[in-house]
Amino acid sequence: MAVKITDNVTWVGKIDWDLNKFHGEEYSTFKGSSYNAYLVRGEKTALVDTVYRPFAREFVDGLAREIDLSRIDFVVANHAEVDHSGALPELLRRIPDVPVYCTANAVKSLRGHYHADWNFRTVGAGDTLDLGGRSLTFIPAPMLHWPDSMFCYLDTDAILFSNDAFGHHYASEAMFADLVDQAGLEHECLKYYANILTPFSRMVTKKIEEFAALKLPLTAICPSHGLVWRKDPMWIVGKYLEWAADYQENQVTVIYDTMWDATREMADAIAKGVRAGAPGTTVKVLHVGHRDKNEIVTEIFKSRLVAAGCSTINRGLLSAMTGILEMVKGLSFRNKLGAAFGSYGWSGESVGLIEKWLAESGLTLAAEGLKINWRADAEGLARCEEFGRTLAARL
Ligand code: FEO
Repeated sequence: MAVKITDNVTWVGKIDWDLNKFHGEEYSTFKGSSYNAYLVRGEKTALVDTVYRPFAREFVDGLAREIDLSRIDFVVANHAEVDHSGALPELLRRIPDVPVYCTANAVKSLRGHYHADWNFRTVGAGDTLDLGGRSLTFIPAPMLHWPDSMFCYLDTDAILFSNDAFGHHYASEAMFADLVDQAGLEHECLKYYANILTPFSRMVTKKIEEFAALKLPLTAICPSHGLVWRKDPMWIVGKYLEWAADYQENQVTVIYDTMWDATREMADAIAKGVRAGAPGTTVKVLHVGHRDKNEIVTEIFKSRLVAAGCSTINRGLLSAMTGILEMVKGLSFRNKLGAAFGSYGWSGESVGLIEKWLAESGLTLAAEGLKINWRADAEGLARCEEFGRTLAARL
């Protein structure tokens, strides 16, 4: 399938309707995804990015139906991760001498992945590729989200090919962001930012400011996942600036895991206390063993305070809670409050362990953790509600 984006740009990627996990098992993709590749035609032709490895043969065969492969003069590899570079071995097997334009870090990554020494042309900020009648300008974007990541900009069409940035895991033949359900799309964009880009927020802001300083017109953003932003492309740029500025909503999220419901009952009582103490605040209660981990991270991203509760097992935490806390630590959230709670039978390490995780993750502890021995009775539940009110007062 090929779809015309403008007279000079054609989408030649792959919509992956079946994808339900990404980055191994790390990221849920309930709406599938796409791997976007674009043919940019001037007097000469450049291919910007390819697709995920399992679709390599299908991609190159489809590309050959769109253009005689020998007429592809340049390949631009904006990013070396295999969801975008995975078809390069198959493509370059058929057109082995075509130059591959990418950053120096991408050369390292591509060599590391494919053990091939292709005709690399290393580019840096401001370098251009003349297509005859139009040109691509390269804009390296290191750590958005890999060291090799790069954008490129097509002057005549004022299109930014942003690779992973401004992307979303959203399979749709609509091709353009303005043609799909906007609330669902925004949720996917937010989830993508929260789970992938949060640690790099300072670099997101800097890169957007750098691009704005170039004062280039912008008619569309073509990311490497999901839909093309053609109607008000600055909307998603504005969202990124908002999300990168330690984004918060008026929300508290209570996450917990529990063996015999005692910690669940604490979670519900704490949430009740937060609601009583901070009316108008959205309070969500999520069982980390039952809910999707990336959706939990998205809720944490939106929150001002996260209360985490867990039973103690074998002097430690239940494994689902450990997994979420490891994700939270890696994502380097800023400007969030945290608190710990949990029931225990005898040794009772869970609350102290959660507090350690939260502190190491950069969250500020809003109150000393709450431990309840065995299952809370009426007095214990009242303590939980009071704990919730104390947290509300810290907001
Ligand atoms: Fe879509 Fe970083 O790969």
